[in-house]
Amino acid sequence: MSSEILAVGLDVGTSRVRCVIGEPSEDGRLNILGVGESDSKGLRRGIVTSAEAVSESIRKAVSDAERVSGVEIDSATVNLSGEHFRGENKNGVVAVAGPEKEITEDDIERAIESACAMPLPPGWDIVARVPQEFIIDGQDGITEPVGMSGSRLEALVHVVISPSAARQNLVKAVKRAGLDVEETVLEPLAAAESSLTDDDREYGCAIVNLGSEITSMMIFGRGAVQHTAVFPFGSMHFTKDLAVGLRVSIPQGNKIKHEFGCVASFLLGSDEREEMIEIQPVGRNETRGLSKEILCDIMQPRAVELLQHISREADAARAQISGGVVMTGGGSLVRGMCEIAEQIFDAPTRLGFVEPEYFGGLAERIQGPEWATAAGLALTSMRRQLREGGHGEKSPGKKVAEFFGNIRDKFR
Ligand SMILES: Nc1ncnc2c1ncn2[C@@H]1O[C@H](COP(=O)(O)OP(=O)(O)OP(=O)(O)O)[C@@H](O)[C@H]1O
Ligand SMILES: [Mg+2]
Repeated sequence: MSSEILAVGLDVGTSRVRCVIGEPSEDGRLNILGVGESDSKGLRRGIVTSAEAVSESIRKAVSDAERVSGVEIDSATVNLSGEHFRGENKNGVVAVAGPEKEITEDDIERAIESACAMPLPPGWDIVARVPQEFIIDGQDGITEPVGMSGSRLEALVHVVISPSAARQNLVKAVKRAGLDVEETVLEPLAAAESSLTDDDREYGCAIVNLGSEITSMMIFGRGAVQHTAVFPFGSMHFTKDLAVGLRVSIPQGNKIKHEFGCVASFLLGSDEREEMIEIQPVGRNETRGLSKEILCDIMQPRAVELLQHISREADAARAQISGGVVMTGGGSLVRGMCEIAEQIFDAPTRLGFVEPEYFGGLAERIQGPEWATAAGLALTSMRRQLREGGHGEKSPGKKVAEFFGNIRDKFR
């Protein structure tokens, strides 16, 4: 290893656990050293239901990644998921009191604190506070207020809240697997970190992470997060539809979805529509035939329903997404998902592959939208450690530095 910094992303999902280990390269990219994954057990809709089962899955994914990279890890940056997140845009105002009336980091923190001073439901916490912009004496759109002059500082902040127990139980499960949690990061924020460009964030873009049981969406604009939404559905819905509709087992439903599934009938040529696949209904010894057209007829209406739900939420947020929609998560891999989403969102839509300018080393091992979250978590970890000036325990001073570093990062 050439650097003291080790960046580890651990994506604990409902169906898969993924681990990415990397180190910074001289050109500022994250050199991927190793990756590992395992089947996930003990979660429902992103929430831990059995800590022991989750920690076992984590151990497997981590030991795979350690074996590939040849390094041992003791901590990770972990994704935070769940159906109960709520994002809100808040503002806070403070007076700037110094003799020169020059804005300090302390003023910024006070303004952000004031924006985040909101009543929370019992047992809920703020899990993300992302500054959007600052307004100094009525002048808006300011991203770097430190050192500017003014007497009234206003902070606009996107605040996300969630039940505290979800985070606490996830942290416990990771600790049980022998790792410390450096930081938890919302899943769509991590996916955005690896897959969006600065232009996507600036001109307006929605990242939609289609997981197994949870789908999350974050809308970016003017360089910052404008809206967050989480939906209690994912690609498992297709598997269950196939299991019920075709009377096959869940594993077979999953296999049919992966190998032959399609959610956009206009992609099927006339010959392909007639093509038959063999399926084996539960409790039967003999197989039966199913045409690809019928398979698509089962899956497409569900895809339209789920995507329309997401699209309505994006419309309600009244946010500009002229940069389009970026789809991440394993659920986006179903054939036709991007094409049908493009029609429903009425905006350019692409799969979110990790940005080549951010990653090096074994980057080809994370070339798929299902790796966006784990890769984004590792990238977040690397950028944080570089700002802090190295690995190790966070001192209170470092935490403050990180806090302001985060603000600056949002406006990179
Ligand atoms: N090649 C593929 N074709 C179709 N579907 C796929 C493919 N690969 C993965 N999936 C589906 O993607 C889903 C898993 O996606 P992902 O790994 O992003 O979810 P997760 O992170 O484990 O779950 P969640 O985010 O909901 O907690 C599964 O339902 C799986 O069947
Ligand atoms: Mg996931």
